[in-house]
Amino acid sequence: MRKISLTGIKPTGDLHIGNYFGTIRPALELAKTHDARYFIADYHALNIMKNPKELSATIRHVAAGWLASGLDPEKVIFYRQSSIPETFELTTMLMAFTPKGQMNRAHAYKAAVQENNERGNDPDAGINMGLFTYPVLMAADIILFDSDIVPVGQDQVQHVEMAADMAQAVNFNYKQEVLKVPQAGVQDDVAVVPGLDGRKMSKSYGNVIPLFAPEKDLRKTIMRIVTNSQGVEEPKDPDTSQIFLLYKLFASPEEQAAFAARYRAGGMGWGDAKEELFRAVNRVLSPMREHYNALMADPANIDRILAQGAEKARPIAAATVKRFRKATGIEA
Ligand code: TRP
Repeated sequence: MRKISLTGIKPTGDLHIGNYFGTIRPALELAKTHDARYFIADYHALNIMKNPKELSATIRHVAAGWLASGLDPEKVIFYRQSSIPETFELTTMLMAFTPKGQMNRAHAYKAAVQENNERGNDPDAGINMGLFTYPVLMAADIILFDSDIVPVGQDQVQHVEMAADMAQAVNFNYKQEVLKVPQAGVQDDVAVVPGLDGRKMSKSYGNVIPLFAPEKDLRKTIMRIVTNSQGVEEPKDPDTSQIFLLYKLFASPEEQAAFAARYRAGGMGWGDAKEELFRAVNRVLSPMREHYNALMADPANIDRILAQGAEKARPIAAATVKRFRKATGIEA
């Protein structure tokens, strides 16, 4: 039997190439050898996104993004979290096995408290219960589908470990394997994608290259990459240049070697290097952008694909909840 891989993306903003190389592409690679279940974590987004138009547009944007990146809904069960009501029943059940102290230690919550403290605010300012209990909802997403492996970035590993703790606490209490214990899958070969300013590409740093921006905007964004003050004639070091690190994601080994040689020879200015990067990025993103635009032109089709995915997902979810309910004595 194939192992089960599951992951979700929170629809809180425009997809960028960090999402693509960090989450989407590795997850689609895993789908070749695993039974994959990939979803849009829309209730996770509700914690931050309170504008209805924006939220519904972002949900479709992320769905079209997965599809334009090559997700085949015939092979991958692809759905919205909100279409699986069993998620919320399982969340409540898992709450009973989750020490509050563990939630106090969750990175996302701790970071929010720390920020409040640094600003001299009340430690709980702006923190809703959705953020505080986030790891339980995420554990329900994972455990509901008997996931073996959860491909995520380093920042989500702690949340997956908490899900494993919850499943183990349940199994220990009932002395049987009621719930599958998941594992985080952080692939070693997933590159950290540098942003425009050289820090990790992240929406919260405002340094992203959007995945589906029109060609003109893509070019403008790439021209904004921060460089040092080396002149045109000076030889340059490719390995410390985020232009080159980004180029590596989009070019063949031969192209990379040729570009590195131009860096070292001198005579290539940063403007030229950015033009070269733009051409390589655009060559890869153009067909994806066309696919994305075609999908976005027919939102009803996106909704239909997600609804069909939910139909396949729900029986799996219902079986897990039933197993758990029986173990607890809630269901005779
Ligand atoms: N918390 C994840 C993020 O912010 C999104 C997510 C929600 C998720 N539920 C999940 C990821 C379940 C993996 C498995 O990126």
